[in-house]
Amino acid sequence: MEIVVIGTGYVGLVTGVSLSEIGHQVTCIDTSIEKITKLKKSISPIYEPGIEELIEKNVAANRLFFGTDLQAAMKNKKIVYLTVGTPQNPDGTANLVYLEAAAIDIAKSMVQDTIVVVKSTVPVGTNEKIKKLIEENTQFNVAMVSNPEFLREGSALVDVFEGDRIVLGANDKKALETIAEVNNAFAIPIYKTNLESAEMIKYASNAFLATKISFINEIANICEKTGANIEQVSTGMGLDSRIGSKFLNAGIGYGGSCFPKDTAALSQIAGTVNHDFKLLKAVIEVNEKQKLKLVDVLKTEVSHLQGKKIALLGLAFKPETDDIRESASQVIIENLLVAGANIHVYDPIAQAGIQAIFGDEIVYEKDIESTIIEAEAVLIITEWDEIKAIKPAIFKKLMRQPIVLDGRLIYNKAEMSSLGIKYYSVGDGTNASYKTDY
Ligand code: UGA
Repeated sequence: MEIVVIGTGYVGLVTGVSLSEIGHQVTCIDTSIEKITKLKKSISPIYEPGIEELIEKNVAANRLFFGTDLQAAMKNKKIVYLTVGTPQNPDGTANLVYLEAAAIDIAKSMVQDTIVVVKSTVPVGTNEKIKKLIEENTQFNVAMVSNPEFLREGSALVDVFEGDRIVLGANDKKALETIAEVNNAFAIPIYKTNLESAEMIKYASNAFLATKISFINEIANICEKTGANIEQVSTGMGLDSRIGSKFLNAGIGYGGSCFPKDTAALSQIAGTVNHDFKLLKAVIEVNEKQKLKLVDVLKTEVSHLQGKKIALLGLAFKPETDDIRESASQVIIENLLVAGANIHVYDPIAQAGIQAIFGDEIVYEKDIESTIIEAEAVLIITEWDEIKAIKPAIFKKLMRQPIVLDGRLIYNKAEMSSLGIKYYSVGDGTNASYKTDY
């Protein structure tokens, strides 16, 4: 089928590329000439493993096109995917200005009845509002389909081609069946529902995953004080298929462009219908606190941070992405700057984002060794493979006094302790003299 995708951000690009990969003719539209020029040369504006190869392949196969002219793209196509961002307003609500602007552009470019598929994360009721907005600006009929996205940055292509489910919501049966047909070749179970439920499924899914993370982080905090080990606790819990082992990794909280934004938005949505979503508020609060966990421990280990070299390994909100939005690294750096620390940071690809915020207030290193050399303490923020591969002895060899505070549970406490390294790992309350790998 012939499809137009509006927006070449994270969701838009992955959507366009994957729809072309399963055989559709896809034109991706963006207002940024710079992005489109790059995409035409198969250069991706986002970092996502495997995406450039797929762009190149489908452009060469004449299934994937890029452009800035929506009107030209919509001439003979009656399916449009809307994937523009819905960033967070200062009060936590979702900002719909980009979505509304794109809806008006669609209305003005329509030359026939059209199905609009909304992939952007939007509050319940938004699809109906967008439908109304389009209809006010065109003589043609529009049918809305809500198709929330469940991909994760860094594993987006795996998630798209091997996801657990595709959710399609519509109040128009014919449109629903057409978009189900578009998605058939993914060979993933399709769950069909109404517009409002599909919109809610997205928020509820992200909020539930965030809840799992905050819950396990709170258990980790208790483990530290009771002699238990969080990894063993979460493994033991996850063996119960009702609980499941995924998203039970304790650490320094969730970040990124989705969980923080969507939990805040859902809390707001609940507020608008006079429901005080207490549980979700606690999830958010726990997460904010957890991001500063390593700083709290550091302050008990190193009494005066003024002028002392503190090394941060990893800056991205998770591995395999250069995204630093809502990452723990940001609040940690802010806090350490206030304490007067001399901060040295390293991340394989996410340094530019942090540099744009902190400029020359901190030192950006080229490799792990120069980051940790002569440091008073090392804080492990992101579990990149390169960081997981560090041999513990290197801390002993290079650091001034080896204190390693691990936010991502990488090392074995007993091994670190046998090397004379002072080691803190979130949620590990076991005595270091015991071997914990049973
Ligand atoms: C998340 C969801 O996982 C996707 O399903 C959803 O499509 C996406 O948001 C979205 O709404 O667009 P993403 O933000 O890319 O995806 O990243 P995740 O892999 O879910 O990780 C989010 C954060 O949670 C990271 O900071 C990660 O370190 C943290 N996390 C994750 C934990 O602390 N523990 C875990 O067990 C899992």
